[in-house]
Amino acid sequence: MKTVNVAIIGTKFMGKAHSNAWTNAPKFFSVPFKPVLKVACGQDKKGTEDFAANWGWQEVETDWRKVVERKDVDIIDVSTPTYLHKDIVIAAAQNGKHIFCEKPMALSYAQAKEMYNAAEKAGVLHYLNHNYRRCPAVSYARQMIEEGKIGTIYHWRGAYLQDWITDPNFPLTWHLRKENAGAGPHYDLNSHSVDLARFLVGEIKAVSAMLKRFIAKRPLPGAGAGTFKAGEGGGPMGEVTVDDAAFMVAEFENGALGSFEASRFANGRKNYNYFEIYGSKGSLVFNLERMNELQYLNLEDPADQQGFRDILVTNATHPYVGGWWPPGHIIGYEHEFTHAVVDFLKALDKGSKIKPNFEDGMRIMQVLEAAILSSESGRKVAVSEIQ
Ligand SMILES: NC(=O)c1ccc[n+]([C@@H]2O[C@H](COP(=O)([O-])OP(=O)(O)OC[C@H]3O[C@@H](n4cnc5c(N)ncnc54)[C@H](O)[C@@H]3O)[C@@H](O)[C@H]2O)c1
Repeated sequence: MKTVNVAIIGTKFMGKAHSNAWTNAPKFFSVPFKPVLKVACGQDKKGTEDFAANWGWQEVETDWRKVVERKDVDIIDVSTPTYLHKDIVIAAAQNGKHIFCEKPMALSYAQAKEMYNAAEKAGVLHYLNHNYRRCPAVSYARQMIEEGKIGTIYHWRGAYLQDWITDPNFPLTWHLRKENAGAGPHYDLNSHSVDLARFLVGEIKAVSAMLKRFIAKRPLPGAGAGTFKAGEGGGPMGEVTVDDAAFMVAEFENGALGSFEASRFANGRKNYNYFEIYGSKGSLVFNLERMNELQYLNLEDPADQQGFRDILVTNATHPYVGGWWPPGHIIGYEHEFTHAVVDFLKALDKGSKIKPNFEDGMRIMQVLEAAILSSESGRKVAVSEIQ
């Protein structure tokens, strides 16, 4: 089997999810290349060595610039905090590397455009990891929409709710600083929802939004702070410079109307990535916390039998499921990443594109930035105003 050499930059939450995906893709699916886990790059040497030993990365590096310049690396996997995406992606493209990058794409639409242009100019394959498209129930929702089962779509109702920073003593990690994250849940969570809405409904034309910060100051992080992990904390305080919640309404180009709620202050909601789609022939409901199910209302059912039915999306005929287990033997969050790697390797082999890619990422950033302008100005903003 042909091989491709992968280097990963970032070794914590996404580093782990991606390492699992590069490892498992060829074990469960028929793929044209076997990924070789060549180099892992993180900030601290010891932590990166432990990570590499656990996942089977052959070598360790702490300087990402050396990694992107290596002749023996084909794919750069960008799993670092958002502020590093632009420099790493552009350097990777200039060195002719194919790129598998985490979301949100960048700190701004302008940065995203630069990244897209660099990747296109270099002619490399680029993928932006909005993993939820590759949850089988979501892929199947798209299939049902394409088959016309939902008819004309009137409404998108989306919410992405979490509660991991409601404790005022949760420290000021990179996620809470504008220079590192660009924005709060508006970028982190709404980027996923906008990707899903574009995937399932269509392009967004205009938005109105309100963004809100609830806690202004937090303790500076101690050692070991990371996603969902407070670190030791207890030090001096610093200013939170991103939103804690972001609500947005949107008009789609096809006439549909949408609402988006993103919050890290929704107590009791852990990773509540939820949407409802209402159309002329039926409706769909998805909740990531019940990710193997898709609710479907079919208006062609007899009126006295109508109601939402739960489709258990675990048949071999459902997208991606055939690679895993028999019907009813459910799958989880990490499988979406494996599906992305499978499609990435297939696209690499065919010389075709994969979606979502940096063009999608650019469009998403444009919508998100239009919402920030709306929140600041108090008016509805056309997405095309952001250039
Ligand atoms: N697809 C998803 O659902 C999803 C979920 C969580 C995070 N993310 C995104 O993934 C990215 C990473 O988030 P995370 O939660 O894994 O962050 P994290 O804080 O858990 O890990 C960040 C990693 O980057 C490394 N790093 C930081 N600066 C570096 C540098 N200069 N050189 C080399 N390595 C460096 C750190 O050592 C660490 O290993 C972010 O863009 C985030 O928005 C996506």
